[in-house]
Amino acid sequence: MDSMSDAAIGSENLVKVYKEKSSRPVLALDGLTLDVREGEIFGLLGRNGAGKTTFLRIITTLLPPTSGKASVLGLDVTRAALEVRKNICVVLQENAVELYLSVMDNLATFARFHSILRGEIERRAKRVIEQFGLGEHVNQKVIDLSGGLKRRLQVAKVFMVDKPVVFLDEATTGMDPINKRTTIEAIREEARKGRTIFLTTHILQEAEELCDSIAIIDRGQCVAKGDPQTIKSLVANILEVTLTFDPLSEAVLNELRQLDLITFAHRNNTVELCVRGGQVSLLELITKLSREHKVVHFEINSPTLEDAFIELLGRNLHPTEGASV
Ligand SMILES: Nc1ncnc2c1ncn2[C@@H]1O[C@H](COP(=O)(O)OP(=O)(O)OP(=O)(O)O)[C@@H](O)[C@H]1O
Ligand SMILES: [Mg+2]
Repeated sequence: MDSMSDAAIGSENLVKVYKEKSSRPVLALDGLTLDVREGEIFGLLGRNGAGKTTFLRIITTLLPPTSGKASVLGLDVTRAALEVRKNICVVLQENAVELYLSVMDNLATFARFHSILRGEIERRAKRVIEQFGLGEHVNQKVIDLSGGLKRRLQVAKVFMVDKPVVFLDEATTGMDPINKRTTIEAIREEARKGRTIFLTTHILQEAEELCDSIAIIDRGQCVAKGDPQTIKSLVANILEVTLTFDPLSEAVLNELRQLDLITFAHRNNTVELCVRGGQVSLLELITKLSREHKVVHFEINSPTLEDAFIELLGRNLHPTEGASV
């Protein structure tokens, strides 16, 4: 077996060109090679239009690739589409809930569609409702739910069915932080059972929190992959430091100005600086400053994936902006 078919989800030189009669062809995937291990939460990241949904549609057999290969659990998505479908569940970016049914009926209908027996449906619904915190809303019609809750129900729905591989396209987009937290916790719990979870997002923080592995794509190509920590380390070990003095003296400012800092700013009694970890021993610096001056507060932050993304794609590109590439 080659390495691609060993992976839970894999692609090799995957190309997709959209050819609409009336417009110019669009190269949505430009030779994308990915592999996802069994049981991991994998995040496909990229700006709007990067090719995330296109990849997801191909890997879930909804769209044929132009060239290249893609497989799920070693099954080729073109040659063994039916077998692939038996093993996956997918939440698409577009909404797909029955608006005029209750939360409970949505869960039950979905499970029935997947041939799950009545008693079993009740048992699973109970678990999923608990897990996704939908208890208060069980009998509410979906049309009356907020956008974020509709989305949560959509994600909850796929966990009514036991499929080894689950795909979620922008599953937590538009959720408030509490809603998101509940959903993320539930997704994690499902992954612990050994399911492989593949999700797409353009929100870096989300991938950072949730994923074991990440691939960042842009213009249909992979620009970086690895675990969140590795992706972060690509940003050359930058640390963001905030120090508050009581008071901030000219002597401190002069001392700091001597250092080789990436950025440096101060306001009132607080200084904010960005430093490369390798160049200055941060701990030494802070110890020295707090020995000689009164430091009332300090904070060290590692760069976010957002920093990594900007570093990788160029500083003038903001990942969540720009509708087209
Ligand atoms: N049916 C289609 N016909 C023509 N072009 C398409 C079609 N679907 C997508 N595209 C184009 O292919 C590229 C990739 O789109 P895709 O939807 O895969 O991006 P995405 O990463 O999912 O973006 P988003 O974050 O906005 O969901 C874009 O340039 C898009 O305009
Ligand atoms: Mg998309």
